[in-house]
Amino acid sequence: MSTAEQGAAADAVAAFDPMSLADHHHAEQRLTEVRACCPVSQPHPRMHFLAAYADVEQVLVDNTRFSARSNFRLDATEGARPFRTGSGALPSSDPPAHTALRLRLRRWFAPRALRRLQPRVEELARAAVADLPIGVDFNLITVSKGLAAQVVYALIGLPEQDWSQLQAWSDALHETLPAPLNGTPEYQAMMARLQALIEARRRRDVPPDESVISGLAEAVEAGDLSAAEAVIHVWQLIQAGTETTSSLIANLLHTLLSDRDRWRLLQHRPELVEAAIEESLRRDAPIQYVMRTPYEPTAVSGCPIDVDEQIVIGLQSANWDREVWGADALEFDIERDRSAGHLAFGRGAHACLGAPLARMEAEAFLSELLRRRPEIMLADGYVHELAPELMVRRPTHLLLHIPN
Ligand code: HEM
Repeated sequence: MSTAEQGAAADAVAAFDPMSLADHHHAEQRLTEVRACCPVSQPHPRMHFLAAYADVEQVLVDNTRFSARSNFRLDATEGARPFRTGSGALPSSDPPAHTALRLRLRRWFAPRALRRLQPRVEELARAAVADLPIGVDFNLITVSKGLAAQVVYALIGLPEQDWSQLQAWSDALHETLPAPLNGTPEYQAMMARLQALIEARRRRDVPPDESVISGLAEAVEAGDLSAAEAVIHVWQLIQAGTETTSSLIANLLHTLLSDRDRWRLLQHRPELVEAAIEESLRRDAPIQYVMRTPYEPTAVSGCPIDVDEQIVIGLQSANWDREVWGADALEFDIERDRSAGHLAFGRGAHACLGAPLARMEAEAFLSELLRRRPEIMLADGYVHELAPELMVRRPTHLLLHIPN
């Protein structure tokens, strides 16, 4: 398409608005339209939206030109807030603070650490499948959320007697989003409990071990980290690992069970489980966007973007880009050529630290389900609806049934 044709087409198509639930719910069609005519658009005066794989990838990997300080905060009015330091949050920090923080947390996601955790993850997945009710409809989201939270608690090393209370607080907090969480009683209670658990580790009431909480308590004791920073890291891992992995499991099961041939294929060829998980992450990215802002006035694909303007990076849109995935980009195809690599976990300096853990957990749960409950199905009359959340892609409910 020539530039003039692109301009005319852009006039005819409204910009994709990441703040609009209507756009979110019709994303397949809307994103196809905007990628074709205006891959870099400006839905709000201080917000730009990137729709094409090439632009998305380019901005993700360039953390010298783009700051992550506005990450995970959609702000149509203000764009990205002016620079401030010391927020302590990994996903929204920049080098050199980000580099040091990531280095500190990376050891718990290294292959050796995850191999140590694997038997526990598999045990939790087995228990989750064994507890599924028979002969009645149930909402899989409750199960997948519970499993995802337990895996993160196990990774962090939080005592099992705290798990149900922590999950109740997390669930209540999720209900208050997108309003700020800090003032809520659940947030205060959760932070106080996490602080007490870190303090107990510092006092060595519990002997040191390889867990995250033990390592963070040691860092606080050594003066490398404040107690408040340690609490923030624990809280962020809980936030980062729960809703996301739960959504992956729900999206994956919906896709497999809504076409029985796919489910049967996996029963007969369990070696395809890994590919099914990757294709689900591509087709239905649990996190739709991440955000960046330029340090200096810049341009992406020729479109000028000023400092303090927010760039919303369309991870899902990139994963559906026909230029990369071909004409059937919107289809779920277990045997797709995946050489380009989907962007559901981001890419570059901020790429998801927990990706191998999320994959391990989804694989453990799906494999156990295929082995123990191959007769599982969508509940009679179930209608798929996307949750009314801007950043997350998952069904509101996923009603399933295991026949007697
Ligand atoms: C399917 C599940 C998951 C998805 C789709 C997902 C997706 C993402 C995405 C898109 C980012 C941001 C990348 C960016 O800003 O460029 C991210 C960052 C992160 N994720 Fe995940 N995530 C998942 C599971 C997990 C789990 C299980 C954990 C840990 C328990 C985790 C921990 C993190 C951390 C610590 C970061 C920040 C990395 C940084 O800024 O350096 N994630 N994730």
